[in-house]
Amino acid sequence: MKIIRDTQRNCARMAAEEYRKLLGENPHCVLGLATGSTPEMLYEELVALCKAGKLSFKDVTTYNLDEYVGLDGSHPQSYRYFMDSHLFNLVDIDKTRTHVPCGVGVTDEMAAHYDDEIKQAGGVDLQLLGIGPNGHIGFNEPGTPWDAVTHIVPLTDATRQANKRFFNSIDEVPEKAVSMGIKTVMQSRRIILMAFGKNKAQAVKGMIEGRIDNSVPASILQLHPDCTVYIDDDAASML
Ligand code: PGA
Repeated sequence: MKIIRDTQRNCARMAAEEYRKLLGENPHCVLGLATGSTPEMLYEELVALCKAGKLSFKDVTTYNLDEYVGLDGSHPQSYRYFMDSHLFNLVDIDKTRTHVPCGVGVTDEMAAHYDDEIKQAGGVDLQLLGIGPNGHIGFNEPGTPWDAVTHIVPLTDATRQANKRFFNSIDEVPEKAVSMGIKTVMQSRRIILMAFGKNKAQAVKGMIEGRIDNSVPASILQLHPDCTVYIDDDAASML
């Protein structure tokens, strides 16, 4: 694991530069994307680079990590809506090449088919990840088996509490999500994980210094051959 420690803005700029290089070298690449507060600044930087003509998403294909079960893409808290409003609607991407797992009427079989689609597209070249305060990646909560492919997951109380800030009340936070599995994530050729703020410090410590154990799902990333972690001082404060 390569660790880069800087302010959130500088981390976003450095990561955006990695995307600029990758898209320059491989305009048809497949990106694995993430939602949440963590990638917002990176998406701002990517939009700015695209508007400045320094990067193009024209031929890029994307697969998002996860989606809430029961929310369709028109729901403002759905991850499809997030991606459209933070990135896809603001850059020159072909929306038909953007994929977010379907959260409505989804079965485990349909969910697992997402892995087949990713394989058919050639696999993910660069997967973006955040990390939950409990060490989850995607919605792979503590205890998720390492060999999980895209599947339906019940969300833990901790995750529902962490995400309730986006909803009017905890009752509105969905109880399940569809998430790429840990195996799906580990199959990507390259990974960038970003983590900012004190509430991520414990999870970051477990991920980087802890035993590889599925009580901290992100600890598996120690075994990935090309994983770069961008953190600020607060997220690094327990290292
Ligand atoms: P956040 O979520 O970016 O909103 O902190 C990250 C995660 O839970 O994976």
